[in-house]
Amino acid sequence: MSEKKASLVIEGREQPIQLPIYSGTLGPDVVDVGAMTSEGLFTYDPGFVSTASCESQITYIDGGKGVLLHRGYPIDQLAEHSDYLETCYLLLYGELPTKAEKEEFVGTVHRHTMVNEQIRTFFNGFRRDAHPMAIMCGVVGALSAFYHDSLEISDEQHRQVAAFRLIAKMPTLAAMSYKYSIGMPFMYPDNSLDYAENFLHMMFGNPCEPSNISPVLARAMDRIFLLHADHEQNASTSTVRLAGSSGANPFACIAAGIAALWGPSHGGANEAVLEMLQEIGDVSRIDEFVARAKDKDDPFRLMGFGHRVYKNFDPRAKVMKEAADEVLAELGIDNDPLLGIAKRLEEIALSDEYFIEKKLYPNVDFYSGIILKAIGIPTSMFTVIFAVGRTVGWIAHWNEMISGSYRIGRPRQLYTGYTQRDFVPVEKR
Ligand code: CMC
Repeated sequence: MSEKKASLVIEGREQPIQLPIYSGTLGPDVVDVGAMTSEGLFTYDPGFVSTASCESQITYIDGGKGVLLHRGYPIDQLAEHSDYLETCYLLLYGELPTKAEKEEFVGTVHRHTMVNEQIRTFFNGFRRDAHPMAIMCGVVGALSAFYHDSLEISDEQHRQVAAFRLIAKMPTLAAMSYKYSIGMPFMYPDNSLDYAENFLHMMFGNPCEPSNISPVLARAMDRIFLLHADHEQNASTSTVRLAGSSGANPFACIAAGIAALWGPSHGGANEAVLEMLQEIGDVSRIDEFVARAKDKDDPFRLMGFGHRVYKNFDPRAKVMKEAADEVLAELGIDNDPLLGIAKRLEEIALSDEYFIEKKLYPNVDFYSGIILKAIGIPTSMFTVIFAVGRTVGWIAHWNEMISGSYRIGRPRQLYTGYTQRDFVPVEKR
């Protein structure tokens, strides 16, 4: 931490407030505003646009340059040379595993893929037409009712077991939520398959026939998980940290993260992209929708475009676009009408002055939606898949917080409501 200081001069006060400035290894310096509270002042930063909520060593993003590093490694290198579980190890432990460490880690994840048999009956409480994200919010939170031996958050061993359980069981629960919605039997995991293959097996397999999983689709699925693995202090990760700061158990915290991810401005965007493409319906209507996106009086936004942090390009989108091209070529379905609309929309938005000026580029969800559709994943499962991939990031951040020093998160507010007034009895209102 540096010795630099900022002086905050406040009109009408004699002495400026001295605020320490800290430098990280990368990124902007931060001003520690803690001393302001004792001076009767809070900072005001709606949407936490310029607030660093914690110190972290996991992921670094430079939105202006389009850089995303996990533990220092660029995302495109990980996407090309690594796989999802190896990236999980990196995020959790800070280093790439040796061959033996990787084997042990993968083996342990595989041994945790089954869920308590009673969870199967838990599903019966949901309507068949429930959204899979609604089911995930419920069943992931309910894991804390099944795995009492990994709830002691101050015990490192408990935290480790909870991490393995969550990473391993998320694909199982995700596939179960889909099978339940279509009235098909749940598939048990097959631990001879790798992580992505196993997920596709549980999604598309049935107990009467052997699964036949395409290695190209499994590789694409693995890359989707990898590219969603972590993204520093986004809305859902910050939610997990905030829930965790009260001492809540890891399963409850991850359920909170899933809820935050569901919204269309965050993880729900991949589903919203496909819904938007369906609503557009034909290439001839694209101009009309682009005009709506530019109209200040119309709340419509082009889903899959823009990002809070990336104001150049989303490096995940670059890799995802390559993967999308690969999958479409492999499957020979580049004549799909919705994909045609997506491609045209991308071209128009990339050359339109409004989008260029506001630096609105296609984001990761634009291309992941296209790949998932090509793989045959139903739209309602898109955000669930994001949640499966992001689980490791949530756990890594939660664990980083719990194993260091932390306080309960408690933001303040700029109060603009009534000043004190006296209660009025009902007959006088
Ligand atoms: N279509 C049309 N205009 C847009 C869009 C869009 N998708 N996104 C932003 N704008 C405009 C916005 O109206 C505003 O215009 P003005 O300056 O004239 O008021 C300007 O661009 C800046 O937007 P903002 O809302 O201040 O930006 P933000 O950082 O608060 O929002 C966002 C970021 C991702 C919520 C937003 O770009 C958006 O709603 N995009 C569509 C949803 C989406 O694709 N979300 C997935 C994000 S990537 C996955 C993830 O990490 O979760």
